[in-house]
Amino acid sequence: MTERLFFALWPGAEQRAALAQVQGDLVRRDARKTHPDDLHITLVFLGDVAPEGRACAEAAGERVGGRAFELALDRIGCYPRARVLWCGPSAPPSALLELVGALERELRGCGFSPERRPYAPHTTLARKARPLAARPLVAPISWLVAEFVLVIAGDGPPPRYRVLRRWPLA
Ligand code: 2AM
Repeated sequence: MTERLFFALWPGAEQRAALAQVQGDLVRRDARKTHPDDLHITLVFLGDVAPEGRACAEAAGERVGGRAFELALDRIGCYPRARVLWCGPSAPPSALLELVGALERELRGCGFSPERRPYAPHTTLARKARPLAARPLVAPISWLVAEFVLVIAGDGPPPRYRVLRRWPLA
């Protein structure tokens, strides 16, 4: 029995509402909008994980002591091949990159395959989206990130993500 897990930043109600507003303004009808309760920024994707892998990931999360940081979601764009419409920071803060690095380091030995692509923090606003040139967001969304979470993905109808554990950032 496996579970699909990932570490993420989980927006608060204010950021979630602002992102839902951007979805309302920019996502066309024929695209598949992410359910507002499912919006998040993945830190490390673990994939389908057996119970011992989950225990190892939770212990890794416990060991990571990151610092809180200010995040500006100030850019939208599209991954044309995946047809993903995203929103993210134009300049990822160093504390975010350090957090991802620390998680990856602590997860070594848990048996997950490391991500080969460079880390690109984003929240997926919609799939099956039409291409759109990357541009600044008219009203950037500010977010004081003071925790990171471990999330499980369900396979039912959205919302399909559920937070399993939370760890504070100092
Ligand atoms: P995406 O939104 O860009 O598709 C749950 O699926 C989360 O994990 C999503 O944020 C998704 O990113 C990310 N994810 C899914 N599959 C992935 C993979 N193979 N590698 C990295 N991230 C992945």
